[in-house]
Amino acid sequence: MKLPARITLCEVGTRDGFQIEPDFIPTEQKVEVVNLLSEAGVARIEVTSFVHPKVVPQLRDAEEVMARIARRPGTRYAALVPNDKGAARAVDAGVDAIHTVISASESHNLANVNMTIAESMAKLRAVMQVAERAKVPVGCGVSTSFGCPFEGDVPLGQLESVVRRLTDIGAHAIGLADTTGMANPRQVARVFEHLMPKFPGIEWTLHTHDTRAMAIPNIMAAMEYGVTNLDSSIGGLGGCPFAPGAVSRRVQEIVGRTLPGQIIKAGKSTRRYPVPDTVASRVSAARA
Ligand code: COA
Repeated sequence: MKLPARITLCEVGTRDGFQIEPDFIPTEQKVEVVNLLSEAGVARIEVTSFVHPKVVPQLRDAEEVMARIARRPGTRYAALVPNDKGAARAVDAGVDAIHTVISASESHNLANVNMTIAESMAKLRAVMQVAERAKVPVGCGVSTSFGCPFEGDVPLGQLESVVRRLTDIGAHAIGLADTTGMANPRQVARVFEHLMPKFPGIEWTLHTHDTRAMAIPNIMAAMEYGVTNLDSSIGGLGGCPFAPGAVSRRVQEIVGRTLPGQIIKAGKSTRRYPVPDTVASRVSAARA
């Protein structure tokens, strides 16, 4: 495989992962996890979202979290916003980057942000203006890029049209999200093969979910196309597992349940186990 030498992770667990947790996670624990992530060297963190607090009550403390985290130099602290009101709140809270959200399918966009794609696009145009005034970079995420839980297949032309409208309003960084883990590697390759030449200069991100254990194969497929920006989620919370075990374990304690990520169970690939007694002597003999 031809893979890029380096990738950049954006850890989204405290946003994408925490947002689905029914019990409110105390603000100081959210702050603790963000700080652990930055101390672990994660360069980009999507800390929270500035959405309607009634829609996502878990993240109603977005301002407070942003105010209390220890800002590590070199770490980019971003937040997700659906509209200009969210963008203004995010800028006031001091984010380093804004991540926007829109879906490639109408029904999901309506279910998620209560807007048609056209209405969302108008809001995102306003987000761009808020961000430009504040000199904050924007990354535009496209949910249901690889399939929609309501509509099923999302035609490539439909995805392309949403991406085109995003570039028309000034997007330079675009993230394709496999919102419910429907993508497969062949599809990921086909999508990037189709879109990349049409939108030269765009910084692409892939946001996966490991719902069907396809996150890593999909990531590999995207990397073969030169995609170097990937979203990760601590311990598989809401997404695929990338973060070091220590961080994952602490998150597991906080949410109070076993996380689905494989790395928290299997440990790092560098982890070594003692050779079983039953074969140890034969191993030594074979080495001699
Ligand atoms: N933050 C806080 N309040 C917001 C807001 C935001 N980003 N956007 C709108 N509001 C407020 C408005 O000011 C208005 O308040 P008022 O009733 O006091 O005047 C109220 O919400 C209704 O505004 P409206 O534009 O009609 O919003 P809505 O009720 O149609 O909701 C969203 C639209 C986008 C705000 C809402 O659907 C949402 O927050 N969705 C996010 C979903 C999400 O996070 N999904 C997971 C991430 S992919």
